[in-house]
Amino acid sequence: MRGCTNVPRMNERAWDRVADTFEQEIFNVPANDTKGFIQHWVDRLAVPDAVATDLGCGVGRTLPLLAERFSKVYAVDVSSQCLAVAEAACPDLTNITYVHADLSQDKNGYPAADVVLCINTLLNAALEVREPLFDRTCRSVKKGGHLLLVVPSLNSALLTAYRHLQWNLRDGMDPKKAQLAAALNGKGLEHGIVHIDGVPTKHYLREELEASLADRGFIVETIEKLEYPWNTEFDAPPKWMKAPFPWDWFVVAKRK
Ligand SMILES: C[S@@+](CC[C@H](N)C(=O)[O-])C[C@H]1O[C@@H](n2cnc3c(N)ncnc32)[C@H](O)[C@@H]1O
Repeated sequence: MRGCTNVPRMNERAWDRVADTFEQEIFNVPANDTKGFIQHWVDRLAVPDAVATDLGCGVGRTLPLLAERFSKVYAVDVSSQCLAVAEAACPDLTNITYVHADLSQDKNGYPAADVVLCINTLLNAALEVREPLFDRTCRSVKKGGHLLLVVPSLNSALLTAYRHLQWNLRDGMDPKKAQLAAALNGKGLEHGIVHIDGVPTKHYLREELEASLADRGFIVETIEKLEYPWNTEFDAPPKWMKAPFPWDWFVVAKRK
């Protein structure tokens, strides 16, 4: 299930612990990008001699995609264990530099790049962590360069709650009980904090992304839905549960 992306691992040691079981535990966004938005934009932005950074690269799922198209790639992650797994998986890709860095701290240790890919890294519910993370992600893009960002959608989380309610009602549950059983944990919901498997996780509105990227000197070029099947949200969803499907936001923004 997609909720598995959100187990409590906000610090380095917690991410280190998951490095060996990453493929089983962490939802694979690029593998589930059935419309190929990520690859399309990486291809479109890959020009000769351009440099790319994979921010929060994890075990390096998107490193081959970048390394085969860019002259130089920086693979950045707070987890040295995840970086070790990523490096072991890409022995032939000699244009990758692995950088152990905490994006919420001051020193980055890698230069600004033409293209920065950042998939489900800006999830932290704590504003004091998330804001510096977002700022540094944006500053990692050269002026005139592009940010390719994937983040959870708040609208999708609300749609999932609605589907849950619908399911309960169709099963004959009393309406009050059906609503209670489908309710999202309200603490922080007005700020996009949705508790997934008990873990507070930041979810974003499209308009919030547009506003916060504009504040940081970016022009949003496109925002797409990366849609997933309902079994990413529910165990054994009923057959009638079809479109609209749940999604993450995929944002392409250019730094002015
Ligand atoms: C949900 S995983 C996504 C990994 C990868 N982008 C993918 O799609 O497979 C989030 C990644 O962000 C990294 N991360 C979280 N907080 C970070 C921080 N403050 N600085 C650098 N990396 C961070 C984690 O170590 C983890 O590898």
